[in-house]
Amino acid sequence: MLVFSKIISVQQEIASLKNGTTIGFVPTMGALHEGHLSLVERAKKENDIVVVSIFVNPTQFDNADDLINYPKTIDKDLALLESSYCDIVFTPTPQEIYNNDIQSQSYDFDGLELQMEGKFRDGHFNGVGTIVERLFEIVKPSKAYFGEKDFQQIQIVRKMVEKRNLPVKIIACPIHREKDGLAMSSRNVRLTKEQRAAAPFIYKTLKKAKAKFGIKNASEVVKWVGNEFKNHPLFNLEYFEIADEDTLLSVETKNPTKKYRAFIAVFAGKIRLIDNISL
Ligand code: PAF
Repeated sequence: MLVFSKIISVQQEIASLKNGTTIGFVPTMGALHEGHLSLVERAKKENDIVVVSIFVNPTQFDNADDLINYPKTIDKDLALLESSYCDIVFTPTPQEIYNNDIQSQSYDFDGLELQMEGKFRDGHFNGVGTIVERLFEIVKPSKAYFGEKDFQQIQIVRKMVEKRNLPVKIIACPIHREKDGLAMSSRNVRLTKEQRAAAPFIYKTLKKAKAKFGIKNASEVVKWVGNEFKNHPLFNLEYFEIADEDTLLSVETKNPTKKYRAFIAVFAGKIRLIDNISL
């Protein structure tokens, strides 16, 4: 496994590959877990080589504390990748990516950026678009792999690829869950013992909401979820929405020809957890 922190070095390595070599790309912010490794494994099955980037992208954080406290475990990450199917790791610094101008470009994702996460995380998707487009430019992947935990992010990246005609296929991979149902996330390591023990409540609530939608209208389900969290001693609900998978717009009733998902964001103290379920 080769590790590069300079753009020029990773580009030279990629340029030296035999013509037609397919590259599977897994962009990450590090603090890797089994979910990331499953993306690497899938990428290796579908491509000749796998490139993983580890970069905690400052422009997608709307909250300085969250950026400072984002877990950074580079030695452990590299050891995990070494024993996975990863061929090349790209670990740039913010200076390498942004020079001295740590700013996002402005994107129009046809309104996808205004829903859910976009309502609560100012500028987040401009930051995601900026870094993902830059990484695609550097790595030139055939396919790029993203976990469905950040479902809205996948739809946004797909929109960017479509609008900018980028030559990469976006592959959405199912959410990887702990045995008790909690969606794997780099942020989970920041939960206290008590919060971690209670956290499966989030996915359990999503599953119950799924069972209710169809029998009840979305607004009734939204109200029910709100009540479930109202008196929870550890979690504060930021949002719960039932939305169309393509437009990400909230819906009220079920139309059997469309695909829907329920999306949730919850605070455990200062730690923000998100999850979603296909309905
Ligand atoms: O999902 C993530 O970890 C990040 O948003 C990504 C795609 C690596 C961009 O920084």
